[in-house]
Amino acid sequence: MSEKTPPAFDDSHPAYGKISDEQFSFLTQYLSNKYGLRIPREKKVLLESRLVKRLHALKMTSIAAYIDHVFKTEHADAEYQLFVDHITTHKTFFFRENYQFEFLKNLLPDYYRRLGSTRQVNIWSAGCSTGEEVYTLGIVLNELRNDMPSLDYRIVGSDVSVPSLKSAAKGVFSSELENIPDRIKEKYFTVVPGRKNPSLRFNSPEVTSRISLGVLNLNNKQYNLPCHFDFIFCRNVIIYFDARTRNEVLERIVARLKPGGYLFLGHSETALGTTLPLKSIQPTIYQKLMT
Ligand SMILES: C[S@@+](CC[C@H](N)C(=O)[O-])C[C@H]1O[C@@H](n2cnc3c(N)ncnc32)[C@H](O)[C@@H]1O
Repeated sequence: MSEKTPPAFDDSHPAYGKISDEQFSFLTQYLSNKYGLRIPREKKVLLESRLVKRLHALKMTSIAAYIDHVFKTEHADAEYQLFVDHITTHKTFFFRENYQFEFLKNLLPDYYRRLGSTRQVNIWSAGCSTGEEVYTLGIVLNELRNDMPSLDYRIVGSDVSVPSLKSAAKGVFSSELENIPDRIKEKYFTVVPGRKNPSLRFNSPEVTSRISLGVLNLNNKQYNLPCHFDFIFCRNVIIYFDARTRNEVLERIVARLKPGGYLFLGHSETALGTTLPLKSIQPTIYQKLMT
């Protein structure tokens, strides 16, 4: 892949970090085939600004060198994970779209009763990023156990980004904490000492013992998951996919939902206009039909 490159590491050179048309086609084609991601031309500058961070970190001279490094060298594995992490958007926060968690809270007592007390509620956070959604679900379910001590639940969090999942597993958060009520902060988090930015560690073994995290590319034709789910949260993920991938992913996700179970999408995502066996309960919340 050829382009005019600055002669040595020189991040003030006007060509530094610029993606040529040929490189843009290569990268977007690759990301579309592998992950279903749609990156329109207008996003070229965004792509450059994300990859230039890796160029800086590696003191690389050009995007061409970076592409060679990621796709051709034996060091690719670790850098490949960072490449995927930098390409994808990870914005998330605790209690995001809280009306959905309120909906879950109100629904669960009846839902659980119908399951029979010996059953387990299984929840999947598909595209969980750095874990805020997973821990929010853990808090919501654990709080419900105050009135329903027998409530047994498991939460699976999956994402395509290994660095994000590692961060989720650490459970240390220094931002995106604003929506957490003080009482919940005190109950579920401890302050991490000696940090410049005040950081909180999620510290509830009772909840974390019910959470498992794993890598899953939603664009894979088959999903390796431990069970079918009562509730699936796939929020602010399919918005990044092309139309075909969006439909295929929704189809595979809904196949993983138990009849009568619920699907939660992000505020600008919809399952309307598909032929999936779903009933729309309210915008972004769907129930899988029983037959
Ligand atoms: C904006 S975050 C959403 C996080 C969380 N669900 C929320 O709503 O706050 C989108 C996540 O989707 C993940 N993602 C993107 N493409 C994916 C794919 N093909 N398979 C699985 N996860 C993917 C990204 O890595 C990112 O962490």
